[in-house]
Amino acid sequence: MGRPFDVAGRTVVVTGGAGGIGYALADRLLRGGAARVVLADRDGGQAAEAAARLGERAHGITLDVTDAAAVAAVVEEVEKTAPIDLWCANAGVARGEELGGDADWEVSWRVHVRATLHVARILVPRMVGRGGGHIMITASAAGLLTNVDSAAYSVTKHAAVAFAEWLAVRYGDDGLDVSCLCPMGVNTAMTAQDGPAAATRLGGAYIEPEDVAESAVLALAEGRFLILPQPQAAVMEQHRAGDRDRWLSGMRRAWRELRAARPSAP
Ligand SMILES: NC(=O)c1ccc[n+]([C@@H]2O[C@H](COP(=O)([O-])OP(=O)(O)OC[C@H]3O[C@@H](n4cnc5c(N)ncnc54)[C@H](O)[C@@H]3O)[C@@H](O)[C@H]2O)c1
Repeated sequence: MGRPFDVAGRTVVVTGGAGGIGYALADRLLRGGAARVVLADRDGGQAAEAAARLGERAHGITLDVTDAAAVAAVVEEVEKTAPIDLWCANAGVARGEELGGDADWEVSWRVHVRATLHVARILVPRMVGRGGGHIMITASAAGLLTNVDSAAYSVTKHAAVAFAEWLAVRYGDDGLDVSCLCPMGVNTAMTAQDGPAAATRLGGAYIEPEDVAESAVLALAEGRFLILPQPQAAVMEQHRAGDRDRWLSGMRRAWRELRAARPSAP
């Protein structure tokens, strides 16, 4: 267990905060008493609009999280006012059907893994040096299990989980707290085009971003690493770890049923 994180009075950055889960996280953190929440998004216009809706303790800025220099500049700028207590590495992309192309893999790797590395290189020494700080990584249940629709998404989200675990093991005793948010389907812009037979639906009915944010804030308060807003993800993960061959057979069966339900089923 990590240390309980009390949101009140904290300075937070949420990447991918212009909408969806990031926006809901920002909203919930502000309602929990955060002093300042910076919504950092590639789409700076939407981030600014989102911040305006959230009130004067929210700030929207443009940030491409794959740009290491830009990430460093944002950390410098925010910390002119107060140290960052919580960085939510939440920006994400859904790219690459099936095996996907090189560009899909490249952007998925850069957004889901390299971006967190960029911020960790700057923030980990600072947080360790001042005796505390928290990095929350939004991975996905696809990073624990799989998402049959996209290899690039599944594999880079597994890497995101692995990086979160690595950070927690390596720096947990040095004052860094880490958590890893792994939802199944959530109703956001990312899933708006999902048809009735999208692979994400294997996880059951989609939940709302506000439900994800509520789970995340509860887990922060309890100092828990793994945040599973849908409890069935924990059961599925236990099945996977308990008998990998049986789990793979079950996944293939579910995939056959999904594929058969698709209009253009091969
Ligand atoms: N929606 C789901 O079903 C679901 C499930 C599990 C995990 N997730 C993860 O949750 C996170 C948030 O996704 P969402 O569902 O809210 O989708 P979303 O599309 O609403 O939000 C993603 C945000 O990330 C921003 N973004 C993308 N690339 C960026 C970059 N390079 N730099 C800065 N910002 C960038 C986008 O502009 C967007 O505002 C993602 O990491 C996603 O993979 C989503």
